[in-house]
Amino acid sequence: MSRRLLQDRRTVITGASRGIGREMALALARRRTRLLLVARSAEPLETAAGECRDLGATVDTVTGDVTDASTRDLIRDSVVQRWSGVDLLVNNAGVSAHGPFARSDEATLRRVMEVNLFAPAELTRMLLPLMPHGDAAAIVNIGSILGYRAAPFNSEYSASKAALRAWSEALRAELAGAGIDVLLASPGTTDTEFFDHLVAKRAEMPWKSAKGLPPAVVAEQIVRAIERGRREVFPNWRGRALVVANRLFPGAVDGWMKRYSGGANSGR
Ligand SMILES: NC(=O)c1ccc[n+]([C@@H]2O[C@H](COP(=O)([O-])OP(=O)(O)OC[C@H]3O[C@@H](n4cnc5c(N)ncnc54)[C@H](OP(=O)(O)O)[C@@H]3O)[C@@H](O)[C@H]2O)c1
Repeated sequence: MSRRLLQDRRTVITGASRGIGREMALALARRRTRLLLVARSAEPLETAAGECRDLGATVDTVTGDVTDASTRDLIRDSVVQRWSGVDLLVNNAGVSAHGPFARSDEATLRRVMEVNLFAPAELTRMLLPLMPHGDAAAIVNIGSILGYRAAPFNSEYSASKAALRAWSEALRAELAGAGIDVLLASPGTTDTEFFDHLVAKRAEMPWKSAKGLPPAVVAEQIVRAIERGRREVFPNWRGRALVVANRLFPGAVDGWMKRYSGGANSGR
């Protein structure tokens, strides 16, 4: 496929008030895409929208929770009224929970799955009829390295991102005939406020957290992957290395992860 030009592309980004989503909005604004930004917190969302306008983009916002069907209806109505269709859907909003599975609960598992899998799936189903066929349109799902190699004390999150990966793979094949791309981006640790907004934190991680990449670097790599029509992108080489190591030496990676088994369980 020839390079996808992003100027004027009608683009929806969920989770655009901060972190990777906000940086993707800025990177796309520099390319003069048309943006519809979504998040729950009105003030930071409007600030992000203002920064994108300063870069020359036209920007609208929808404030709401993507797990609410009413928010998804508002997104579809905005798309129809403003643009009559949509070229790029970036399913970025995501949450995690930390702690041993045995000490977690059903509500935590359901919430993580709602935000990370069911909401993007249903938003995509709703917007697909509004996407043009050909090589312009793309669905961009923000997964995680943990969708390839699950980590202890991140069981709900790892499961949600593995499911997002499987769903993306099926969708990519289904939509190929319509000329709609599906890009799965799988970042590793990224320096955002992600870990300050956990659904639940039942333990400290028993390992020292690796220094993450700046979200602007991650966002730029994802946007370049959209331009190049790529099917997957791993913005963080450490994360990519873990995926490769897990494919080649799954027993060794399991053994390495099991070393932590006592850690976050202490105090149970
Ligand atoms: N940071 C990392 O290390 C890392 C690594 C791999 C993958 N990722 C993935 O990258 C994506 C972005 O994460 P981030 O690091 O940028 O996190 P972040 O800084 O916490 O940003 C998350 C964004 O999603 C929005 N959001 C969360 N729940 C929402 C909901 N129910 N409805 C609507 N918006 C919602 C938040 O805004 P409001 O709170 O205002 O709604 C915020 O704009 C996620 O899918 C995450 O799983 C992150």
